[in-house]
Amino acid sequence: MLVIIRPDKAVASIQAAKLVADQVRHKPDSVLGLSTGNTPLATYTELIRMHRDDGLDFSNVTTFNLDEYFGLSREHPQSFYSEIHKNFLDHINVRSDRTHIPNGESKAPAKTCSEYEDAILAAGGIDLQILGIGRTGHIGFNEPTSSLASRTRLKTLSDETINDNSKISGDIPEVAITMGIGTILEAKKILLLAFGESKSNAVAKAIEGPISSSCSASALQMHRDVRFILDEEAATELRHRSYYDRVVEQTKRYAPELLGITND
Ligand code: PGA
Repeated sequence: MLVIIRPDKAVASIQAAKLVADQVRHKPDSVLGLSTGNTPLATYTELIRMHRDDGLDFSNVTTFNLDEYFGLSREHPQSFYSEIHKNFLDHINVRSDRTHIPNGESKAPAKTCSEYEDAILAAGGIDLQILGIGRTGHIGFNEPTSSLASRTRLKTLSDETINDNSKISGDIPEVAITMGIGTILEAKKILLLAFGESKSNAVAKAIEGPISSSCSASALQMHRDVRFILDEEAATELRHRSYYDRVVEQTKRYAPELLGITND
């Protein structure tokens, strides 16, 4: 795992956007896994800027969102459908038939979930998955006790998540459709972003704790290509900070492309 600690969220988000842009330039028909919430917003803003100013082309890209509240219409302002459209998809040239978001209005959720898995497979799998992390250590809405092998399914939200998310957007449903941890682990590359002191405990458990269903993000320790991009505040509880910084220094020398930078 590469743990990249940047001075603040703005700098970290620009680096994350650069890594996403590199993926799209390298493979124009990339399949991107998208997340919602506050964390990736500045990354999306920078990608939109790159599209506008630098011609970053999303016309052959396919997207799959991680999760969606269950029981909200797509048009509802709190739906992740509305959120990802407002903050990202509506501002780039991705084709609407290549964007996928779990259907939170489904009358047959089990079928909807298995069809979502099928659609990911049919697209060739996710090339790069963008993740945030909840204070519970969740990725997607895989709350503590989620099976580390779980697939896309309905999940009941924890009290902590309901509190956190309703602070941002008002009352929210208690159930969501989410990709499973097993689904996420099949992405070829994973970029987890975490900013702010409130995430520092979950981040430390994810990176340095035991692999455990009590912290879903700890399952990422089993993934072969995962990068954590953190700000200083989210990194405060890491015990091996100086080692991570040394790894990044050596990566700069020998494999700068992994960091979204070039040496020339
Ligand atoms: P946040 O949510 O980006 O709004 O903090 C992250 C998450 O719950 O996964």
